[in-house]
Amino acid sequence: MTITSNITPESVASYLSAQEEKSMLRFLTCGSVDDGKSTLIGRLLYDTKLIFEDQLATLKSDSRKHGTAGEEIDFALLVDGLEAEREQGITIDVAYRFFATARRKFIVADTPGHEEYTRNMATGASTADLAIVLVDSRQGVLRQTRRHSFIASLLGIRHIVVAVNKIDLVGYDHAVFRGIVDDYIAFAKNLGFETIVAIPMSARFGDNVTENSEKTPWYDGPALLQHLESVPTDREGAEKPFRFPVQFVSRPDQNFRGFAGQVASGKISVGDEVVVAKSGQSSKVKELVIYGGSLKEATEGRAVTIVLEDQIEVSRGNLLVAPHDRPHVTDQFQAHVIWFDANPLIPGRSYLLRTETDSVHCTITALKYEIDVNTFAHEAAKLLPMNSVGICNISLQAPIAFDAYKTNRVTGNFVIIDRFTNATLGAGMIDHPLRRAENVHWQATEVDKTARSEIKNQKPAVLWFTGYSGSGKSTIANNLEKVLHASGKHTYMLDGDNIRHGLNRDLGFTAEDRVENIRRVAEVAKLMADAGLVVLVSFISPFKAERQLAREMMDEGEFIEIFVDTPIEECARRDPKGLYRKAQAGEIQNFTGISSPYERPESPEIHLHTIGHDPQELARKVADFLNGRERA
Ligand code: ADX
Repeated sequence: MTITSNITPESVASYLSAQEEKSMLRFLTCGSVDDGKSTLIGRLLYDTKLIFEDQLATLKSDSRKHGTAGEEIDFALLVDGLEAEREQGITIDVAYRFFATARRKFIVADTPGHEEYTRNMATGASTADLAIVLVDSRQGVLRQTRRHSFIASLLGIRHIVVAVNKIDLVGYDHAVFRGIVDDYIAFAKNLGFETIVAIPMSARFGDNVTENSEKTPWYDGPALLQHLESVPTDREGAEKPFRFPVQFVSRPDQNFRGFAGQVASGKISVGDEVVVAKSGQSSKVKELVIYGGSLKEATEGRAVTIVLEDQIEVSRGNLLVAPHDRPHVTDQFQAHVIWFDANPLIPGRSYLLRTETDSVHCTITALKYEIDVNTFAHEAAKLLPMNSVGICNISLQAPIAFDAYKTNRVTGNFVIIDRFTNATLGAGMIDHPLRRAENVHWQATEVDKTARSEIKNQKPAVLWFTGYSGSGKSTIANNLEKVLHASGKHTYMLDGDNIRHGLNRDLGFTAEDRVENIRRVAEVAKLMADAGLVVLVSFISPFKAERQLAREMMDEGEFIEIFVDTPIEECARRDPKGLYRKAQAGEIQNFTGISSPYERPESPEIHLHTIGHDPQELARKVADFLNGRERA
């Protein structure tokens, strides 16, 4: 979150508590670049007299420096607070602003409009009651108008204002307005919004922003501010089951132990029973502590520290819930996913999934379909490109506690994060848990991995050879297997070319097929290691993420990454299968090193340079490593 004015979190808190008795509307603005979002918010703040004199002075001089409105005040500058944005003339982050009128208080998330910033829109929208969708009168409903409206509906926003802006530039023409409204309604009528109100507007000149304009006598609806002050916000939160994500455990001294957080939904009173969602342990509320006092009852949105009667195990990230209306606790569910990242979502790849309370590794086990944001048609898809929406089955490394998004927006949403860069790649809304997860249990076996490997007198291992095609992986692995076999080891070799004749014959060489190729072979290697074998895996395995996935599937120390490092020019020169020649001639697509990437291992257990060394020598090097490990 970026607060781009001089407002500090403390001043916001005191401001908000002073305004406690007024109802609150959270809204956001969206639309294409240049639709005038920032100008509109600037105009709202200006006309509701929320700008102080000194800020106004800066604004006037800034307008002359950077503005795009000539000698007049450029209201966009008021909102586009970040210097970088001014330089570029665009809005690049979500800016939250707070303002109030005599009737209501407001929090507005100003979200940027260019294609790649669907991310910020989804972030800003997750708590909003209403979205103002700006449409440029000269351009009408665009692809982005549709996408943002669709995302608003997915995020559970119930009220839409279609701000038909820059109406001055089309001569305040009623017919233009009518045409845009008809277009919008035709497309949005099935999105499930409770209200759609269209207003002809000029944010720049203030027409129909805070007061009805004389220039649009044909419009008899409310001005924007009037509508924002009166649209129902009836939060149903208090009637929902109690949910309380624990943000931290407060232990100032021996005698006090409380759980701090914010009531996500429902309410809680002293004496009520609560349950820890995952463990099922229960206790009763002894005290509800707030700064400088205590409460009898706390409702949705209230930040509070809960003290329980019993010493039960509660830690940061636990969800305290109502005993008779509990969330789901499973490790598989179906969800709507909005993907923001330039690299597509690939089923089978390992990502980090973060909810309000949990952070776990996940994979998309099935991409059921993609939803076309223009026609809402369901389309088969193998991966999810940037700015698209898909329905996915997701499997987690460990169970989490959650609700369906439609029943609870706080406990039903998540984000997907890149495990290496920490970037947020997508956002999701949980639809429902998958039954299969509840009905499949792990079967314990009595002869275990230790027994199986002890009888073979060896430590199981997965020797993972990675490198370009023709780098020498299979040749070295072959030599190594001979050496190991001769010394009495029980081995098995999994080779890319061979496995692609059987188990993986349905897979090609696109990124998503390679991800699946490696996922399957890693699962097989895991089973073989469990059988007590020394497994040799020889696959290009070009992506870091999947090699990491394979590593994490094995026991500690069992995965040995062997980078067969032969420069691509040398592989192409050797060209044992004639494939480089074909790839260079354009006869093979997606060829690793030529038309598909190879991500070099950063810290492999064994790094083999092949030029000037023969395969026997390199195999011996690996055998020595293994012997050392066996003795350790
Ligand atoms: S991986 O990238 O998915 O790990 P894998 O090791 O299974 O690849 O298969 C690589 C082998 O397939 C290569 O050694 C080569 O013989 C063959 N091959 C055919 N087409 C391609 C291609 N487009 N890119 C790489 N290898 C290919």
